[in-house]
Amino acid sequence: MNNLKNKVVYITGGSKGIGFGVASKLLEAGMKVAISSRLLENAQKAAKSLGSEDNVLAIASDVSKIGDEKSAVKKILDKWGKLDVVVANAGVGHFAPVDQISDTLWHEMVNTNLNGVYHSLKASVEALKQSKGYYITLASLAGTNFFANGAGYNATKFGVVGFTQAAMLDLRPYDIKVSTIMPGSVATNFNGHEPSKEDAWKIQPEDIGELVLDLLKMNPRTLPSKIEVRPSRPDKK
Ligand SMILES: NC(=O)c1ccc[n+]([C@@H]2O[C@H](COP(=O)([O-])OP(=O)(O)OC[C@H]3O[C@@H](n4cnc5c(N)ncnc54)[C@H](OP(=O)(O)O)[C@@H]3O)[C@@H](O)[C@H]2O)c1
Repeated sequence: MNNLKNKVVYITGGSKGIGFGVASKLLEAGMKVAISSRLLENAQKAAKSLGSEDNVLAIASDVSKIGDEKSAVKKILDKWGKLDVVVANAGVGHFAPVDQISDTLWHEMVNTNLNGVYHSLKASVEALKQSKGYYITLASLAGTNFFANGAGYNATKFGVVGFTQAAMLDLRPYDIKVSTIMPGSVATNFNGHEPSKEDAWKIQPEDIGELVLDLLKMNPRTLPSKIEVRPSRPDKK
């Protein structure tokens, strides 16, 4: 995608954190950006701080519901007539030993992090075939490194990495590019965290936005399909 001006992107979970950072960078590059949240008011508040109604669309959609994702894509096609890029970013994390994690939190993670990326792809794939577009998932280094208290989160993120790589093989013949980004610590509201100056050592959300831009601008013959990204200097604590 050499010229990003007026290309249309849908970022799931763009009300804060990584999704918001990616949205701000893609807007700077001249793209039209749709962001979603489970709550319309959260998406609208974020959209207002990002740009004008011409360039930013706020959508209420819960990625765990395929119907929500289908209507989200329809809203984008109704407004801009095409969809070039999807960033399947929405995700939640709950951490507890496997014998203690509640069934509700387990299912919320699986339904959001894993079923969600499938729903976002299923809802958008025909539009991406038309545009010869790009589908990007936000996995995590937790999708390749397992840790105590991470059974649920690890299961979903290992799943997202496998899903994205297989989808890449399935969709290459349609000239759709598919990549997964696997970040380490990013300064966001993840798991109830409140970003502060203590987080200066972490990746910042807009850095993931730069990475998405690099992927979109990559020569069409080349596909970085699985990208690990981590803080250059880990916390000294
Ligand atoms: N922060 C990190 O260190 C880190 C590292 C690696 C990977 N990641 C991954 O990066 C992604 C973004 O996380 P973040 O760190 O930016 O977290 P965050 O600051 O908590 O933001 C999460 C975003 O996802 C949205 N969201 C949550 N559940 C949703 C659902 N069911 N449907 C639609 N939107 C939903 C939230 O919107 P509302 O609350 O407004 O609905 C919010 O916009 C996640 O997939 C996470 O696993 C994060």
